Amino acid sequence: MSAPPKNPERAGVRSPTRARIAERTLRTDRWWQAPLLTALGLAVFVIYASIRSWVRTAYFVEDYHYLTPFYSPCLSDSCVPGSSDFGTPIGELPMIIPLGFLVLPFLLGFRLTCYYYRKAYYRSVWLAPPACAVAEPHRTYSGETRLPLIIQNAHRYFFYFAVIISLINTYDAIRSFRGADGGFGIGLGTLILVGNVTLLWLYTVSCHSCRHVTGGRLTHFSKHPVRYWMWTQISKLNTRHMQFAWTTLATLMITDFYVMLVASGTLTDLRLIN
Ligand code: FES
Repeated sequence: MSAPPKNPERAGVRSPTRARIAERTLRTDRWWQAPLLTALGLAVFVIYASIRSWVRTAYFVEDYHYLTPFYSPCLSDSCVPGSSDFGTPIGELPMIIPLGFLVLPFLLGFRLTCYYYRKAYYRSVWLAPPACAVAEPHRTYSGETRLPLIIQNAHRYFFYFAVIISLINTYDAIRSFRGADGGFGIGLGTLILVGNVTLLWLYTVSCHSCRHVTGGRLTHFSKHPVRYWMWTQISKLNTRHMQFAWTTLATLMITDFYVMLVASGTLTDLRLIN
């Protein structure tokens, strides 16, 4: 967490201590392209995920046990038969509440407070600043020291919830190794679910908080060789965290879209085994 500025009024880009440049930026390249593409990419996911989370149709393929990650775990009596492997402790839910409402706040919290996404939407949505050497429109700066941005510091706790959700998605992927006769089987949907959960794990363990959990607060790495090894591996993955962040947004949508096509009867699942 950055140190709180003593006076946010004097910490903004127009404060007296900053260089006096009339132009917003002296850059002549297409500095606006990256924040624009980022904003568009995030908007596509938010719109798609919101619609799919609320429609309550075509989210489960009973024959092969394909459950879209947007509805997992499905814990309500409103879930279609067979989709609630963890029981239905919640009872019926009105249409206004998404069936995945129990995990959505944690998933959203994990992504929104992610160090990479913070950079992405601070730049592309809040323009704070939109790019290096481009003045932001805000006159004050208080960092992440006040509500609501101080909540960003809860990221380390959201990480533990994300691990639980990834375990549930792993369970779903394992359950999708099923044929129409109830025995073992593999279809294209199985491969998509497995690919999605693999990337979700890579995104989750490459998290900065995971890196801290494994190797943080140690005085001597030499006295903790196992943790040092884990920290080293996670540090390597951490350099790819941005790629995992974007790839998993895409695979979440692809997985959901494929389940929707098969569940609605628009597409027949391509079966590889049984
Ligand atoms: S830093 Fe991105 S998920 Fe933790």
